[in-house]
Amino acid sequence: MVEVYILNIEDVDFEELLSSFAGRLPQQVVDKARRFKNPQDKVRNLGGEILSRWAIARVSGTYPDKVFECNNNGKPLSGKPDLFFNISHSGHYVVVSVSDWETGVDIERLRLNKMKVAKRFFSDEEISNIQKSEDPDARFSRYWSLKEAYLKYIGTGLTRELNSFTVRESNSNSYSIYEENTEIKDLKIFHQQVNKNYFLSICHRTAENNIWVQQVKLSDLESAKQKHG
Ligand SMILES: CC(C)(COP(=O)(O)OP(=O)(O)OC[C@H]1O[C@@H](n2cnc3c(N)ncnc32)[C@H](O)[C@@H]1OP(=O)(O)O)[C@@H](O)C(=O)NCCC(=O)NCCS
Repeated sequence: MVEVYILNIEDVDFEELLSSFAGRLPQQVVDKARRFKNPQDKVRNLGGEILSRWAIARVSGTYPDKVFECNNNGKPLSGKPDLFFNISHSGHYVVVSVSDWETGVDIERLRLNKMKVAKRFFSDEEISNIQKSEDPDARFSRYWSLKEAYLKYIGTGLTRELNSFTVRESNSNSYSIYEENTEIKDLKIFHQQVNKNYFLSICHRTAENNIWVQQVKLSDLESAKQKHG
């Protein structure tokens, strides 16, 4: 099972967020968030830390109180062998996926007029599908989200070329990944739109056929503070 939590941070103020949660976060995490110049980046970064710790506590019963170690490309690790998570943020949303197997999540805001970017970064098949699409902006944004979710699953992030593989719809809401025209076995990407402007993708092993997506509010996270304290 993959549990996915979506938090809308549109009206969240950084200092208010800090005053509610700083006591539960390592000082290094707070310091890092403070260093972002853009107030929305501060909230997105801190929101990811808060939401991921809450989600991990929810599935494991233990609230992580240390800085997450990362792999060589920056992917945060839970530190437990059977507990995996991933964070994504874009615009008004922070998203976290948690699973007992590797997971990669990506949320993307609708991006407009990106054909040039597509031609530079996507595979020929994806470029052609965007060109044929009735809604090229949505198709571009969906592909970006799907492709990043895969690279976040494998943990390379964008150190790996986006055009080194192709995503292809396998059935509604589900995409397969192809490298040199061979489907990667045992992996899928679940996709859904949060609304017309946001595209959400979760890369997971095929065996996890239960993808559970839920919107949460800050008040949910606050009221759980005592429970997992
Ligand atoms: C992973 C990556 C694609 C994320 O891009 P982004 O546009 O910020 O996208 P998202 O909001 O979806 O993801 C951000 C989160 O992904 C997680 N993340 C970072 N690196 C990751 C990786 N290699 N694999 C999976 N997840 C990763 C972090 O939790 C990060 O949150 P933070 O920025 O608040 O710390 C991009 O940062 C990347 O390619 N990083 C790897 C290469 C790199 O720059 N490494 C330098 C650090 S060692």
